[in-house]
Amino acid sequence: MSAARAHDPIARVHAVDSVGTTVRVRGWVLRSRSSGGILFLIVRDRTGSAQVTARKDRVGEAKFADAERLQSEGVVEVSGPVAVDPRAPGGREVRAETIEVLSAGEPFPIFQDQTEEFLLDHRHLAIRSQDLVATVRVKAELLGAFRRFLEREDILEITPPILTGNPAEGGAEAFQIDYFGRPGYLSQSAQLYLEAMLAPHERVYAITTSFRAEKSRTPRHLTEYTHLEVELAWTDLDGIMTFLERMLADVLHDLAQRRPEELKRLGRPPEELLALAPPFQRLPYAEAVDRLQAQGLPVAWGSDLGTAEERALTISEKRPLFLTHFPREVKAFYMLRSTVDPRTVEGADLLAPEGYGEIAGASARETDVEKLIERLRETGAPVEEYEWYLDLRRHGNVPHSGFGIGVERVLRWVLRREHIRDTTPFPRTPSRHTP
Ligand code: 4AD
Ligand code: MG
Repeated sequence: MSAARAHDPIARVHAVDSVGTTVRVRGWVLRSRSSGGILFLIVRDRTGSAQVTARKDRVGEAKFADAERLQSEGVVEVSGPVAVDPRAPGGREVRAETIEVLSAGEPFPIFQDQTEEFLLDHRHLAIRSQDLVATVRVKAELLGAFRRFLEREDILEITPPILTGNPAEGGAEAFQIDYFGRPGYLSQSAQLYLEAMLAPHERVYAITTSFRAEKSRTPRHLTEYTHLEVELAWTDLDGIMTFLERMLADVLHDLAQRRPEELKRLGRPPEELLALAPPFQRLPYAEAVDRLQAQGLPVAWGSDLGTAEERALTISEKRPLFLTHFPREVKAFYMLRSTVDPRTVEGADLLAPEGYGEIAGASARETDVEKLIERLRETGAPVEEYEWYLDLRRHGNVPHSGFGIGVERVLRWVLRREHIRDTTPFPRTPSRHTP
């Protein structure tokens, strides 16, 4: 061990060869108690936690008195030998020879059995909880896994705009802003821009924040979420579904291998992810409606399928399910009209199993300018503002398909979270945009 090394990661305390060696660690106090001139601290850093014991007769009265003032989440630096102690978590402890309080802190406001509302008000501190720490690490790993997969598939990452002049997914749910006196919108989807980038690059993706001004307070809606979108030239609906299921299985296997401990902690055995294998099931909308009617749900051909219907279709499933060929009235203007049944579109929603519902939306894109204009008119959109998008069909028009997958929706399912807000450190919902 080099003498120049400044600090050890706390995980070092639990290394096989560390007993008897001296470590120098620093971190945040998880808990502390003092008894008979000995202070017991559990100290955490990003690598783990360990017990520290400090004896008054060893560290000196003044330092001991300082250390006794450490609050939960106070910050401390300690050096001393690692010893075996069967009563300590992990069976080891650091016996402090020096202890330095870096920031004693004020009484930490978060403790057990507080209300959800209180915890959300103190989210800036609650993000230190073990569940949220594990969640944020899984999320980072998931984003990394998506990027690794897309890189291997030779798909180019694009940086589309967030400030836009036309809503991609319908004006009603777009956040409108004042853009220097003209109307502007926060992006709901990068899709239209990805389609523009298709002619020179053929295979593109973006990971951006999407915004939805949905007032619905549901456990699966955020007003701001992480959106991964892919657009592939020369691809039809079947091709894009095949790509999406292959990507999801690959990425979740990767996640299971890299973050098994966090997954277990959050209630998802990694083996369940490793068992996911394409192809996923495919169910045409018309058959889904029959199935739902047989279960007694009040749906008819033409109804949009919401949370209750998606739940009924997937509650006893173990694998994701593609719902395909919706009526065109319930879907966005850009979806390709089906030639098999022109009342429907070449689009699919990917539903997570176990009742979690929609995690991705995919479709082949309409290539016929006249049909696009007709659909824009039907939805009441100002056609002139989509002229730039229609130009894409006038110049270098090729068959293409794409999808958007909600990263927090995927995590809600994978991490078995009751509410989608627990998949993101600072959730944005209709009732909250702070802290
Ligand atoms: O189904 P959506 O609205 O489709 C699109 O935006 C397409 N333009 C995407 C594309 O083809 N490039 O949104 C895609 C996904 C949904 O399946 C869902 O997973 C997620 O985005 N999503 C939300 N996630 C959290 N909170 C919300 N309010 C969401 N709205 C959509
Ligand atoms: Mg959708």
